[in-house]
Amino acid sequence: MQDQHAWSGRFSEPVSELVKHYTASIGFDYRLAEVDIEGSLAHAAMLNRSGVLSDADLEAIRRGMAEIRAEIRAGKLEWSVDLEDVHMNIERRLTDRIGDAGKRLHTGRSRNDQVATDIRLWLRGEIDATVGLLAELQLSLLDLAEQHAATVMPGFTHLQVAQPVTFGHHLLAYVEMLARDAERMQDCRKRVNRLPLGAAALAGTTYPIDRHYTAGLLGFDDVCHNSLDAVSDRDFAIEFTAAASLAMLHLSRLSEELILWMSPRVGFIDIADRFCTGSSIMPQKKNPDVPELVRGKSGRVVGHLIALITLMKAQPLAYNKDNQEDKEPLFDTVDTLQTTLRIYADMMRGVTVKPEAMRAAVLQGYATATDLADYLVKKGLPFRDSHEVVALAVRHAEQQGVDLSELALPVLQGFSALIAEDVYTVLTPEGSLAQRDHVGGTAPTQVRAQIERHRARLA
Ligand code: ARG
Repeated sequence: MQDQHAWSGRFSEPVSELVKHYTASIGFDYRLAEVDIEGSLAHAAMLNRSGVLSDADLEAIRRGMAEIRAEIRAGKLEWSVDLEDVHMNIERRLTDRIGDAGKRLHTGRSRNDQVATDIRLWLRGEIDATVGLLAELQLSLLDLAEQHAATVMPGFTHLQVAQPVTFGHHLLAYVEMLARDAERMQDCRKRVNRLPLGAAALAGTTYPIDRHYTAGLLGFDDVCHNSLDAVSDRDFAIEFTAAASLAMLHLSRLSEELILWMSPRVGFIDIADRFCTGSSIMPQKKNPDVPELVRGKSGRVVGHLIALITLMKAQPLAYNKDNQEDKEPLFDTVDTLQTTLRIYADMMRGVTVKPEAMRAAVLQGYATATDLADYLVKKGLPFRDSHEVVALAVRHAEQQGVDLSELALPVLQGFSALIAEDVYTVLTPEGSLAQRDHVGGTAPTQVRAQIERHRARLA
């Protein structure tokens, strides 16, 4: 026997089985159950304060909802697809328990403002959790950066060895990215944290409601000031997913580097076995599965962003059923980003660095050529001339199969008479690093200062 729908009075036949399943959202929106109850309790308290709901009804609703919440937490509530969504499932459950008081809960409210409120409440909590996880990962990167504040590695442009940097400095670039990701989340939170309830179906309600009171109870900073907008726009979900996409993009970049660094051809790092898998056919293989999956999953989150943008595009005011499709992309975005952040914080603690391999790559790549050019400029040579001198010196060193720092002084002086014994303090990777001693530079002292700044910021 099919359950009577809350709206079935107008209809002469029940919806087909196929349509029932097609239109139901309970298969995924049950995740909103806790916030749905929270929103309902605030709405009921407001109705009571405004004289619309009696003390006895409020009392009954509170008792009924507490029982339902306990039932949900114990995993005992069975969701019914006949009741379409989480809102009607909970309302029916409440009415079964407390009778007419349960039926009065929906006074001055619609599922349209109810669901918009639920998503905002839910997303607010998830934003806070995500910001916490972003901080955890930053701290994990900071610990590794601190151990390697002075570890020389090649900095690349075009994936060609460019200039020496420290591994700590390289990692701090990702800390910067993640810090902006957290900022974006917190900024988005401001626009999430506004109350749609009171908009009702689309036009507001005839009851003497107090929206600011409800907003206060639910911890919203403000109310949505236009009822049509309140029930229909999901721009905040798009914004969140855009911020999540950027975070995943950042992690996909780091993943790409970890994968390269772990390739035996590069051999800069190793990743702890618990984050890798072997091959069923090639016994020698150890594959960086986790970074590869992160790289892959970043595409999935960007896909959700596109789904949400496309969902919203050209929707007329106000609520349309299209909006029911906002949940799965949003839920999966949160799940994917949060699990990725969790595993990443742990994985970065399982990275072993091989400083000898990094330093050897710097020497092979003539990474201090720019330093030699700068040295000559400081001795009075115009930069373009100095660039030419160094190019010749590099070609010579290349023919000899040595680094610039391995050329004897008379040999170097053959390229420019301006070169003196002090040239070796800039030609070594360490000398090169030490000279970039300004805010944002790669000198180990600067790297340590940045680590301190980040730690203070995250404390
Ligand atoms: N399940 C719906 C959603 O997720 C709830 C709102 C339905 N409102 C309506 N008028 N059908 O959007």
